[in-house]
Amino acid sequence: MKVKVEPEQLLASMTYAEKLAQLQIVWRPDSGESGNLARTGAGALFWPASAQATNALQRIAVEESRHGIPLLIGLDVVHGQFTIFPTPLAQAASFDPEVARADARLSAKEARSNGVNWTFSPMIDVSRDPRWGRVVEGFGEDPYLNAVFGEAKIRGYQGDDLSSEASMAACAKHFVGYSAAEGGRDYNTTDISLQRLRNVYLEPFRVAVAAGVASLMASFNAVSGVPMHANREMLTDVLKNEWGHGGIVVADAGGVGELVDHGIAADAADAGRLALSAGLDVEMGGSLLSDGEPIIREDLLDSARLDDAVLRVLRLKQALGLFDNPYVDESTAATGPDETSLSAARDTAARCAVLLKNDDGVLPLKPRGQRVLVVGPYAESKDHLGAWVQYFASPTTTSIAESLTEALPGSVVTTLPGATFFGSNPSRQAEAAAAAAAAAAEADLVIVAVGEPSDLSGEASSRSSLNLPGDQEQLIRAIAGSGTPFAVVLMTGRPLVVSEWIDQCPALLVAWHLGTEAGKAISDVLTGAVNPGGKLPMSFPRSVGQVPIYYNHESTGRPARIGGSLAHERPDVGLTGPNNTDDYYKSKYLDLELGPQFGFGHGLSYTSFELESSTDQALSATLDELRAGSRITFSTIVRNTGRRDGDEVVQLYVSDPLASVTRPVRQLRGFTRVFVPAGEERRVSLTISLDDLGFWTNDHHAGYIVEPGEFQVGIGNGLTSQDFSLTVTPRSP
Ligand code: NOJ
Repeated sequence: MKVKVEPEQLLASMTYAEKLAQLQIVWRPDSGESGNLARTGAGALFWPASAQATNALQRIAVEESRHGIPLLIGLDVVHGQFTIFPTPLAQAASFDPEVARADARLSAKEARSNGVNWTFSPMIDVSRDPRWGRVVEGFGEDPYLNAVFGEAKIRGYQGDDLSSEASMAACAKHFVGYSAAEGGRDYNTTDISLQRLRNVYLEPFRVAVAAGVASLMASFNAVSGVPMHANREMLTDVLKNEWGHGGIVVADAGGVGELVDHGIAADAADAGRLALSAGLDVEMGGSLLSDGEPIIREDLLDSARLDDAVLRVLRLKQALGLFDNPYVDESTAATGPDETSLSAARDTAARCAVLLKNDDGVLPLKPRGQRVLVVGPYAESKDHLGAWVQYFASPTTTSIAESLTEALPGSVVTTLPGATFFGSNPSRQAEAAAAAAAAAAEADLVIVAVGEPSDLSGEASSRSSLNLPGDQEQLIRAIAGSGTPFAVVLMTGRPLVVSEWIDQCPALLVAWHLGTEAGKAISDVLTGAVNPGGKLPMSFPRSVGQVPIYYNHESTGRPARIGGSLAHERPDVGLTGPNNTDDYYKSKYLDLELGPQFGFGHGLSYTSFELESSTDQALSATLDELRAGSRITFSTIVRNTGRRDGDEVVQLYVSDPLASVTRPVRQLRGFTRVFVPAGEERRVSLTISLDDLGFWTNDHHAGYIVEPGEFQVGIGNGLTSQDFSLTVTPRSP
């Protein structure tokens, strides 16, 4: 008969070494070692790569360890385990949280069926520096977008019940400020003001905790000089005490040991003690014990803190239902995609594509009678899975050229075999570009499929240049020289600098890394079977010198006007623009136009939309009403004025022009993606509440405040905006 065990009872009978063993996730041990670890009562292991192996380890843990405590089995299931969905950055471009939820639900089903009960996802680091390769894993430059997509992922992974066979525990990472790495260089030092920390970097995590995320991962960086793995103020005071996080805080791989490298711990034992004392619950890497012996002296660890950490782990195991059933059904474990997951992968992928330029309606492709040439390194490549996939991920099913050939039976689709444009031999590449141009001259339309290979973004993949790698820009210029209309399809893990060729290029479709069904989804968009409706979740800079560049920067004392050349007249040093004296002592570059090449929220469609306001332009509310929960509604009519059905993303931005601290020039506080058939219109209403109007002050005790006064609210689609004013008074007169 099964006896119900309570975490508290278990804890009471555990030794110091057994408690510490529960507090580590051991990083990919070999199979013999895994068995030993499970036998001695390990807390968590990385997924051993099959349902059978997982069951075997759980059996050892349950039947052979002293307490029979089942294992947490962790894995980075970031945008799919077998069926790969678009990268998180691409998902954010859909401006449709359902995309993230669908990925998370299907990922949880695939992973949990194999015994994975804990994923290290979502990453909700607000990312404003595209040199940092990990921008691909998050949801872009805006805290609200990260919060909304993070919450959708968490709810998708965890479902309503963690013990369900289609749920797993989520992990919001990296707590906190990792993406502020100076120079965009991964793992580099960070320096973050309290304003930015509270209002930008912490905000998505606060929302994740409110949504019930089961765990958070500490980040590799320091906040105010204290590395996050030992940062008591953040891990305990803010996360656990202020926000009430009842789940666990896990280290990042090796992050505890790195406290020695940060220069705040003398040795591994000191690092472990500092980390656990600060509020970290689980170490990643398995270094708290050496040959089964604790490395930290027992009298140096507060026993109540230690017990609290162990209880958090045991409670998570209980919530996951592992004490009741630690095993999975090996006969139904997923080993690859099925029809449902492939169809979801294709649909979600097409929703993430962003059309940035489409002069003269080059796209979509005509249904028949065309000679279509597909060139570039991505013409036949299947490198669409993106940065965070593991060796067992299912490969991309078709290339762009294959998918187009199938989708356009009435046209002739050709490629140029053998040309890569990633080569290091300039004369061969020049030859290849010339051959591509000659072939282009014979075609009616050219698709130039270029981009960054998946392994140029992700962890430890920072770049100092944001141009297309290799000789791809040369290829684009050669095709432009052929005179044949063309569209560039850009696969990328980050915003790139396109300024050296964008003016010569009639159409640009950003297709990120869209996953297993990327080829088909891209073909769906190119042929118009799907009308693109995505928007940029991160600005595309004009030059790497502008980075970091993001729309929601704070107001400055000397803003320069956007538009018009600000170049300085110094032909002797190559600066030839007019000398605009009005703007001279303004925040600008002498040699570059202001603003991004393509800004946050920007994206076109094959149809056209008009927005028409239908609410009063001037609204008011009292603080008392807002505190009592009242919401203010802003409505707009979205009219599809073109000849194709399409999706528009209506975005709501708030600005607070007069406050006690400098506020962002505008902040996204709501959005909705709406489908409007050709010639029809839809009313869209977005609401804001108290939470959308205030900010975290510099005084920890004052917390979040809303200052009465005038606010501006803009509703737009990234191209045009309607402005409203909102007056907030303390109370009714
Ligand atoms: C290091 C990464 O920073 C983190 O995001 C990931 O979850 C762990 N490795 C485990 O793979």
